[in-house]
Amino acid sequence: MKKSVLIIISAVVLASCGTNETKSKKESKETPETESKKEVTVDKNDQTVDEVKFSITGNDMMKFDKEEFKVKEGQKVSLTLKHIGEMKKEVMGHNWVLLAQGTDLAEFATKAMAAKDNNYIPEGDAVIVHTDLIGGGESTTITFDAPKKGTYDFICSFPGHYGLMKGKFIVE
Ligand code: CO
Repeated sequence: MKKSVLIIISAVVLASCGTNETKSKKESKETPETESKKEVTVDKNDQTVDEVKFSITGNDMMKFDKEEFKVKEGQKVSLTLKHIGEMKKEVMGHNWVLLAQGTDLAEFATKAMAAKDNNYIPEGDAVIVHTDLIGGGESTTITFDAPKKGTYDFICSFPGHYGLMKGKFIVE
């Protein structure tokens, strides 16, 4: 992150010194690669919004390795779920399901249990976003825009897992 900020600053310096050829040449020698960075964008309110990348693992002990994520409203989120166990997804399947605020976890989990044909993702408005269901050794990535400010629950919706596999997704 610091590096990309430096590159952006030097790009701005280069641009503002465009008429000074001597200085531009000297600086371009020091920083030969000033490729444009796409990871930083500017939204309508002129606030800097970047992309954040997360990874989370699930194991054969029915545990995620993270209980909390923090992001900023509108931030692009890339989340990779990796199953570091060996058990098959039919017996120890994991997914990462982000739930709308106000969702009753036990009620949702009951509906999810009945949605086996849809990888335990029930129909309705409760699911904001979810990954694929995976088994040991597999990994899957999703990207999405962080929802509005607030605290959200995430769970694994595989039957019986939400009690242990859950956490908070905090949007600031
Ligand atoms: Co699971």
